Amino acid sequence: MSFAEGILNGKSAIVTGGATGIGSYIVRRLGTLGASVGIVSRKEENLIAAVKAFKEQDGIDVVWRTGDVRDPDGIKKSFDEVVGEIGGLDILVCNAAGNFICPTEDLSWNGWRTVIEIDLNGTFNCCQAALEYLKASQDGGRIISISTTQADFGWPGAAHAGAAKSGIQNLMKTLAAEWGQYGIRANWISPGPIEGTEGVDRLIIQQGLGEEVKKNIPLGTFGEGDDIANAVVYLSSDTGKYVSGAGLAVDGATQWFRKR
Ligand code: HXC
Repeated sequence: MSFAEGILNGKSAIVTGGATGIGSYIVRRLGTLGASVGIVSRKEENLIAAVKAFKEQDGIDVVWRTGDVRDPDGIKKSFDEVVGEIGGLDILVCNAAGNFICPTEDLSWNGWRTVIEIDLNGTFNCCQAALEYLKASQDGGRIISISTTQADFGWPGAAHAGAAKSGIQNLMKTLAAEWGQYGIRANWISPGPIEGTEGVDRLIIQQGLGEEVKKNIPLGTFGEGDDIANAVVYLSSDTGKYVSGAGLAVDGATQWFRKR
């Protein structure tokens, strides 16, 4: 099941952290539906392997630059170079994230700071670096940030990521209000547990929580990367043109399940 062929023809997109995990599904879907896509991400070896796979398996050419979202000047330079190659920027997907499980009483200042810098400050840096290009987008630029439903509740063991993702949601609301005048839409997607991603592997499977978590998903299964990618397409194309400052949970109703 997919969208109409070529629905994103003529659009250009950057996906941060797009070499692995959920980001790679987003890149593949945007690219196969016609967008010119660039990835900015930290690890060159992941980028090279991903771009090769996109070419061989999906027939799409993806532009890449290394870049750490924590470094505003470096990110601006990488974005400028990618935009030069993909011919503009209509869609920014702020997907890069870091996370690890650690009880807050044991969390070092540097551990807290690192995740806040990647997730929250990194999203701010990318939005600022993209602004001049998104303003110039013909049909209105789109910012889509990847959050999590955990940000709407407490997140025991991930205070840093919960606070950062919650901050991202508020940042999207503010940008929707401030940058609507430029035609820019700013939204977020809150994925539930998505199978085969590093996040679920490290935070759930390796903690021995796989079966327990699955029991708490009303729809009964982990999500797929394409479930998130399809939500990105909806928000990126004309289908989502009147949606801004909004969150879309794609989580099999996990957030509403509470044991009695
Ligand atoms: C305790 C830890 C730690 C751990 C790192 N730190 N890992 N503390 N437990 N498991 C501490 C370090 O000791 C250090 O503090 C500080 O954090 C910085 O660590 P570095 O390794 O120097 O940082 P860096 O190399 O920048 O790595 C960033 C990272 C890394 C976040 C720490 O884990 C990372 O990038 N992971 C991959 C990205 C990822 O997993 N993305 C998917 C997220 S999924 P001290 O005090 O010692 O100096 C997600 C949603 C999941 O967010 C949803 C599931 C339902």
